[in-house]
Amino acid sequence: MTQLTAPRETRIGRALEHLRNGSTDEFDVVTPFDAVEYTDPRLAARERNLVFGRVPSIVAHGSEVARAGDFVTLQMPRNKVIVVRQADGVVKAFVNLCRHRGALLEEQEKGSCRVFSCGYHRWAYGTDGSLRAITRDATFGKVDRARYGLVELPCEERHGFVWLVDDATQQIDVAAWLGSPMDEILGGYGLPDLVCYRAEGFDEPVNWKIMQDAFLDGYHIQYAHANTAARHIHTNVMAAEDFGRHCRFIAPRKSIDRWLDEDPNGTSLAPHVTETHFLLPNSTLLRQPDHFELLTFRPHPKDPGRSRMEMRLLVPAVEASGMSDAAWTNLWDKNWQILLDVLHAEDFPLLRSSQAGLESADAGGMLLGRNELANQVFRRELGRLVS
Ligand code: FES
Ligand SMILES: [Fe+2]
Repeated sequence: MTQLTAPRETRIGRALEHLRNGSTDEFDVVTPFDAVEYTDPRLAARERNLVFGRVPSIVAHGSEVARAGDFVTLQMPRNKVIVVRQADGVVKAFVNLCRHRGALLEEQEKGSCRVFSCGYHRWAYGTDGSLRAITRDATFGKVDRARYGLVELPCEERHGFVWLVDDATQQIDVAAWLGSPMDEILGGYGLPDLVCYRAEGFDEPVNWKIMQDAFLDGYHIQYAHANTAARHIHTNVMAAEDFGRHCRFIAPRKSIDRWLDEDPNGTSLAPHVTETHFLLPNSTLLRQPDHFELLTFRPHPKDPGRSRMEMRLLVPAVEASGMSDAAWTNLWDKNWQILLDVLHAEDFPLLRSSQAGLESADAGGMLLGRNELANQVFRRELGRLVS
């Protein structure tokens, strides 16, 4: 495994060599782990506070809040949140709660507005979080409005994504968190120019780490996805780069097989691979030949046995694609449906069964193999954050 980034075709060549040899990049050790990591409420509290409350994680693509006043709401592990585009183009995040008596301020999952208006006694806030109106204020009494605006959370837009630290007392610096070379890698992908074709969330009775692990796993494809993904993607082959905090790996698609015996001789093999990026703490960004997919995983605010996965399909805008509206919609609808079918029919049932199994009182010790390299990086780095 190399530490510095080699040219892409060189890394693809390394994956092809692994395919020829029946080998893969490997972690240095087999790692034992315990079921309690997926069930312990005290560990879950540490993860909420020391992971999601400290480091940036992706909550949306910028195109989901394209214009001033566009917002999305979400449940972070520590806070209910509103993410909203400001008049000056910056994206801000606020705790989704009215400062009068705590009612949920915005109930819609997404929308566009000029003020947030509370359903309980109709106090109103600007999209910049300022407290604009107290109803019947002559009788309510004197209030220092500057102190009762919405509580702001650290939020930054970078590489096309909206990132958030889920703790109002912290700061955010996405470039520093990504570090080199991941910040440069993401910077080279043109992600701000893509559009989020579709985003959907799935609440599952599964610990978030089991969910995250399944989407860094090239080992299960042939067994869990025999008649779907395994027809197009090779199993247990990766050419990986471990950057210490984040990692990425190239996995060959089966269309690469014609080059097993034939010298590519300068022909790019990029159309024949998927490149997976693990962004600590909770995202898988898949670079496909013609688009990206972003998968994020967030713990439930209370229950270690529950989480929410969000899936986003990021594609070139119709104007940039040279396609008709109908062809463009048809293409990405089909892509979306394939992803959805595999998730619901194949991944989720297995992951629910993992969680159910891990809740056995005498589960016994378990193992992460050397071939499960990205999972090993995830576990190692998460351990650093919570220790
Ligand atoms: S709780 Fe929002 S106005 Fe009273
Ligand atoms: Fe899977």
